[in-house]
Amino acid sequence: MERGRVTMDRNADAPWSKFDPEVYVDNNYRTPLEVDLLIVRLMRDHFGRCFSGGVPDSVRGVDAGAGANLYPALSMLPWCEKILLLEFARPNVEYLERQVSSGGFDTAWDAFWDVLREAPAYAAVEPRSRFGEIVRVERGNLFDLDGHRRWDLGTMFFVADSMSECPDEFKRGVRCFMNALGERAPFAAAFMKESVGYRVGDHDYPAYRVNEDRVRESLAPFTAELEIHDLHHMVRPGHEGMLLALGRRNSEVAVP
Ligand SMILES: C[S@@+](CC[C@H](N)C(=O)[O-])C[C@H]1O[C@@H](n2cnc3c(N)ncnc32)[C@H](O)[C@@H]1O
Repeated sequence: MERGRVTMDRNADAPWSKFDPEVYVDNNYRTPLEVDLLIVRLMRDHFGRCFSGGVPDSVRGVDAGAGANLYPALSMLPWCEKILLLEFARPNVEYLERQVSSGGFDTAWDAFWDVLREAPAYAAVEPRSRFGEIVRVERGNLFDLDGHRRWDLGTMFFVADSMSECPDEFKRGVRCFMNALGERAPFAAAFMKESVGYRVGDHDYPAYRVNEDRVRESLAPFTAELEIHDLHHMVRPGHEGMLLALGRRNSEVAVP
């Protein structure tokens, strides 16, 4: 008989209620890494290009599985009338609610804004007051986005690949995110390359191993434009870099 672990950790099995956002920020963002600053720059330029012909009225943005990371939302700030941060883990929801409260977001996020504001559209925005005005936090499950709610701009960072070990849940996460975007909506999505899972404080969280081909294959049915940046930066042992996908939603209404 074969020995060893044969079951896979599904999304519903991971200890999301014990996710510690402060430890997560310490591990990943408190000291900004070159790779994140590069991602922010690429995302800023992508959104800038997408809106270079003008910004439509009332653009609504969504960051799916926002967790304790504000830079995707900050990257959407100049283009949106409203931004929704959708997150499942209660401690992360509470973290995000503190960031939108009247005290303003933590200074840890200023280094990311400094990169964004090198572009004029961002420089014209006062980030703390605008973040407090237009960002709303909602506790919700990515898997419950069923294509009925649609956003005009979207981000999903280290979520579909970092929420389960199951291939079908990775594909479902990508599908739910992409089906939440309206026709031609610009998007950015990031994935840990070949991640074997990650630890936050005393708890282990699952991951599904992806490479550039898997990411491309999962996004292609939903996209009109797609570029994938393979960033060979390691942030910890147990993965092989990061993949950043930038593009636009195609005109399919919803892909099952
Ligand atoms: C690796 S963290 C990424 C957080 C953040 N987006 C970032 O860029 O650092 C994975 C996030 O996915 C969230 N998550 C896990 N399962 C989810 C689900 N079913 N629906 C929505 N979010 C989920 C977790 O709570 C966590 O915030």
